[in-house]
Amino acid sequence: MKKFLIIANWKLNGDFNFINKNINLIKKIDNSLNFCKLAIAPPYVYIDYIHNYLKNTSINLVAQNVDINEKGSFTGEISINMLKDIGVKYVIIGHSERRINHYENNNFIAKKFILTKKKGLIPILCIGETKEEKKQNITEKICINQINSILKICEVKIFYNTIIAYEPIWAIGSRKIADINEIEKTISFIKKYISSINQKISKSIVFQYGGSVNKDNINNLFQIKNINGLLVGKASLTIENFISLVKKAEKNIRLLRS
Ligand code: PGA
Repeated sequence: MKKFLIIANWKLNGDFNFINKNINLIKKIDNSLNFCKLAIAPPYVYIDYIHNYLKNTSINLVAQNVDINEKGSFTGEISINMLKDIGVKYVIIGHSERRINHYENNNFIAKKFILTKKKGLIPILCIGETKEEKKQNITEKICINQINSILKICEVKIFYNTIIAYEPIWAIGSRKIADINEIEKTISFIKKYISSINQKISKSIVFQYGGSVNKDNINNLFQIKNINGLLVGKASLTIENFISLVKKAEKNIRLLRS
């Protein structure tokens, strides 16, 4: 059975001081885990530095973004091969902060997802609805549209062994996680949808939840049967909180699997 994957998404936070202070603590907690697995998504410029710290650990590196171009005159961009070069394993694709602040649309995100997978890294596709879409009761439709934008240009097998993170946009950074039943229902719906196209592919996908997960609400999330990982933003920036969150996750998964 796959380990429960907890990704610390630092977003535009952290510096050498933060890394030097915290990385050994993260390594220490990682060493004590049997059922969970950690990964860190630092800003690009620190990936290589952290990679050196993480040699001989099972902690993986995650890039927060990638360009759709592999090389050329694209000032300011980072390519998938560069990420491979510095030891990245996962790439976050279509995070709502990129959809909103950088105007990334479904088609653009689909291209990044496909490129990442074809180049041998694991894409983490972030999907989810806005507050307004939730009010209109169209969460499932929105999530399926986000997935269909990939299926429009590629066969379903592109999803083999990838990650889909359900992240309701309104829950991100809001200190309020989505309702447990709604998370479970939405993920079940997506799973069934992909399963109706190809059951084997659907089974290979890891589903995560993201949006205001912290040490105080994490226990509730283990009532959800169909997630096998978390994307953690703000709560990964305070090391005591992050360690407490990871310990609780490990305990819950141990109980569930024993
Ligand atoms: P948050 O961010 O934990 O701060 O809500 C989660 C995310 O953006 O993935």
